[in-house]
Amino acid sequence: MPTAIEPMSPKYGARLKGVDIREPLDAATLAEIKAALAEYAVCAIGHDASPTDEQHIAFSGLLGPMERGKEKKFAGVGERIRHPEIVDQSNLNEVGEIYADSDRRLAYKRANRLWHTDMSFFTIRATYSLLAAHIVPAVGADTEFVDMRAVWDALPQERKAKLEGLVVEHSYWHSRVLGGGPEPSAEELAAHPPARHKMVHVHEPSGRKSLYIASHSMGIVGWPQAKAMELFKELMTFATQPQFVFAHKWRLGDVLIWDNMCTLHRATEFDDRGQVRDVRRTTCRERVVVNEKMRIE
Ligand SMILES: [Fe+2]
Repeated sequence: MPTAIEPMSPKYGARLKGVDIREPLDAATLAEIKAALAEYAVCAIGHDASPTDEQHIAFSGLLGPMERGKEKKFAGVGERIRHPEIVDQSNLNEVGEIYADSDRRLAYKRANRLWHTDMSFFTIRATYSLLAAHIVPAVGADTEFVDMRAVWDALPQERKAKLEGLVVEHSYWHSRVLGGGPEPSAEELAAHPPARHKMVHVHEPSGRKSLYIASHSMGIVGWPQAKAMELFKELMTFATQPQFVFAHKWRLGDVLIWDNMCTLHRATEFDDRGQVRDVRRTTCRERVVVNEKMRIE
């Protein structure tokens, strides 16, 4: 079981000491990890060396139904990592070289610098994401978080009343284009339509209310799009004020787990044409998923 839970910021985020995901975990330890996630939303587990992909996958499977990977998103492009459960969030191509400037995948990775929550564009959303650091740049590339439960708590009462009951549409392509990526093809759009989710929901592990919006949010059901975008802008500006933001500074061997159902996150700048960042993600889902058409990063 964890020997200590050390908060990484005053409000949320904690480092769990005395846990090693490379070792078999007993039920009590797993329950403590889940309880820490419910309270702190973002938890780091450090290791003296990166867990293998197999160890990463095995541990992730203890936290819920796992994303198993689908069709490749970019036809004709190989994969650096062979495990379908792992999303390669590095800046490396299939032969382990830094992406060329012209590589479409680099543009899409840069879209992760927008505030988002993983897989809100799916009907069956992501719960936990687990990101393992294999190589981290010397400078930059922090991952920043916002606890959307704290944001909800801080909203004025009259604002809260107007948000309850709204239904938001989330689209993968919306954020990718916002982030500077190319427009999707008609085929890509059709293969991956928007998903709808309540703007305000109860985060089940903690029982606290949370806002659920992100850079994938492209509309509100029954609203003109311009009005919806205006509200998203207002809420995102409020949510990402410095008092709500926590920056995780990566250590080699870290496995960082966050709960997408109550947080926003974003990657931050680094020299992605000059330095290697090799981070690999697994993802748990609300329920077991069958017949999803695409693998999404
Ligand atoms: Fe992400």
